[in-house]
Amino acid sequence: MKETGELALKISELKIKRNAIILAHNYQAEEVQLAADFLGDSLELSRKAAGLDQDIIVFAGVKFMAETAKILSPAKKVLLPRLDAGCPMADMITVDELREMKTRHPRAMVVTYVNSSVEIKAESDVCCTSANAVQVVKNVPAAEIIFVPDENLGSYVQKRVPEKKLHLFEGFCYVHHRIRAEEIAAARALFPGAPVIVHPEVRPEIADNADEVLSTSGMLLYVRSAPALEFIVATEQGLLQRMKRENPGKEFIPAGREKICSNMKRTTLLDVFAALDEDKYMIEVEPRTAGRAGRALREMLKYG
Ligand code: 13P
Ligand code: SF4
Repeated sequence: MKETGELALKISELKIKRNAIILAHNYQAEEVQLAADFLGDSLELSRKAAGLDQDIIVFAGVKFMAETAKILSPAKKVLLPRLDAGCPMADMITVDELREMKTRHPRAMVVTYVNSSVEIKAESDVCCTSANAVQVVKNVPAAEIIFVPDENLGSYVQKRVPEKKLHLFEGFCYVHHRIRAEEIAAARALFPGAPVIVHPEVRPEIADNADEVLSTSGMLLYVRSAPALEFIVATEQGLLQRMKRENPGKEFIPAGREKICSNMKRTTLLDVFAALDEDKYMIEVEPRTAGRAGRALREMLKYG
């Protein structure tokens, strides 16, 4: 504990010396969350990264998030403390597979979840996050949409925008896809009055029966203002830690055993310190790809 406090202090000193800011996703380990200047969901983090004054952004999250920050803020040095913190879903679709979908559906616009590679974003018309996917799909000027890579998020959006036809890819998040209806049913039986709030990356049968389907920060807002004192929360464990810290009078019950994204949990406080101290790992995106991916990301910020 003493070492954690000392490390946190060294990080604060280095941040000032280097004119840096630490952005962290809601799923990060608690020690990293506590060291962050700004904690948020993918949309909040993208917006934040696009308008910063600091010279250096340390991004405690996974690679696609740091790449998004670099593309939206190309003049800044963006550091990802762990190069092995990826998102398996982001790597599920290849450029060839997306091009093949575009050939099959020539009139469709491509809406790509930000949990994707830079190359896939570069092939897309507009990006979205879990917080604005419904709004983006509703607002894009096309009746047909190719939606990649998350099939669960795509099905959720399709039900809320029935007037459009979505062509889905079969990608998924291994953390959310693993959550079972029986786990929710067992939690409901133990806490009968507790609302069930889930992330839209869960399977359709779980989203269909939930009380609320929200992005990670959407869930935070909901639990803060809802009158209930107990909530069943189907998402990654880091968010439940933030909920508990910020809402000490309320109880947050995971759906079954705690769900962990090992990629999000790779980053330690020591990694954050090393990133700031040794300038690692610097995120670079090939300029032409960054230009095309940046258009899709900026379109998203316009729509959602
Ligand atoms: P949010 O944008 O809702 O924070 O989700 C990001 C993510 O990776 C979910 O698995
Ligand atoms: Fe990717 Fe799922 Fe981890 Fe989010 S929780 S970063 S979608 S693997």
